[in-house]
Amino acid sequence: HVFCFCCAAAESNKYEAAKEEILSQTVCTRCEVSQWDSDEPVPRADLLKGIQGAHGLLCLLSDKIDAEVLEAAGPNLKVISTLSVGFDHLAIDEIKKRGIRVGYTPDVLTDATAELTVALLLATARRLPEGVEEVKNGGWSSWKPLWLCGYGLSGSTVGVIGLGRIGMAIAQRLMPFGVKRLLYSGRTAKPHAAEVNGEFVPLDTLVSESDFIVVSCSLTPETQGMCDKSFFSKMKPTAVFINTSRGAVVNQEHLYEALSSGQIAAAGLDVTTPEPLPTNHQLLTLKNCVVLPHIGSATYSTRGVMSALAVQNLLGGLQGTDMPSELTL
Ligand code: NDP
Ligand code: DGY
Repeated sequence: HVFCFCCAAAESNKYEAAKEEILSQTVCTRCEVSQWDSDEPVPRADLLKGIQGAHGLLCLLSDKIDAEVLEAAGPNLKVISTLSVGFDHLAIDEIKKRGIRVGYTPDVLTDATAELTVALLLATARRLPEGVEEVKNGGWSSWKPLWLCGYGLSGSTVGVIGLGRIGMAIAQRLMPFGVKRLLYSGRTAKPHAAEVNGEFVPLDTLVSESDFIVVSCSLTPETQGMCDKSFFSKMKPTAVFINTSRGAVVNQEHLYEALSSGQIAAAGLDVTTPEPLPTNHQLLTLKNCVVLPHIGSATYSTRGVMSALAVQNLLGGLQGTDMPSELTL
């Protein structure tokens, strides 16, 4: 018995194919499947009800899997498979305590997320949303020497916080723009950083010396709220801040102050707290803040491959065999 999501509303053929794969594979292994048959997140009450007695759970990053959900599931639950590489929505300690295995989706979304990060960085630094808006609202009067000027990557210093799978893929894509120095920070120096001439530096050095700061680390107790008043106060006034990791890494009130006072030049966020960000949120009043609705991995093919991998992980966990991407707990 498994409880899983099902995106029946998705119009993509590839997505439909992935859904078929889910259904055919689950039939082969004789699973009884309860599905939340919508692209919208499952309401908490339905999750708590649907998971009762289940042996497996396929969930999304919007589903908080905590002790309450695990208690509702009961002792049958053997495996949780999340359709994401981030696992900060899972209460890992509680899961580990119960001997439940966890599957996730690393690697398959790295390219799509790195690509989106570069797009967001360029859109923010070169003020694309503002420019598009000016064309539509009649603000485009003539070619003017300083109108809508922004910042370019050529000759710049880029700082990547968290040079993991996605951080590295972002660095590889940015270097050909003529980046002069690539700094990175994290818990440990990475041998693969040599490929992008990456310099492992303390966080403070990265923050004060970078023209572009890209956050691509995982959300942990250590990184939660890491980008705060003190962090922004060390940035150059011409520097651009980009976050495609998790919203909670940033103190958004402090970011608002830094952006509105001109302490930093601009910010591009694919992730926020909460999600969705309320439409009356103060960050949305700023021209120098570009906010996207958490679409880092949102290409049809990536979501299809993520779905297939999540199903393989679920089936491995149910059968007690290898999972293609099992999280080490
Ligand atoms: P990885 O595990 O490969 O990379 C995570 C990186 O975070 C590691 O390099 C790690 O460094 C670093 N890190 C951990 N703690 C700290 C710290 N205290 N300070 C600085 N860096 C730290 O994961 P991925 O690259 O695959 O994914 C990264 C994150 O991106 C995910 O956890 C998820 O939150 C987010 N994501 C967002 C998407 C979106 O749609 N916007 C799409 C996909 C992922 P070290 O090895 O030294 O510990
Ligand atoms: C993840 O996988 O963690 C992303 O946030 C969505 O793909």
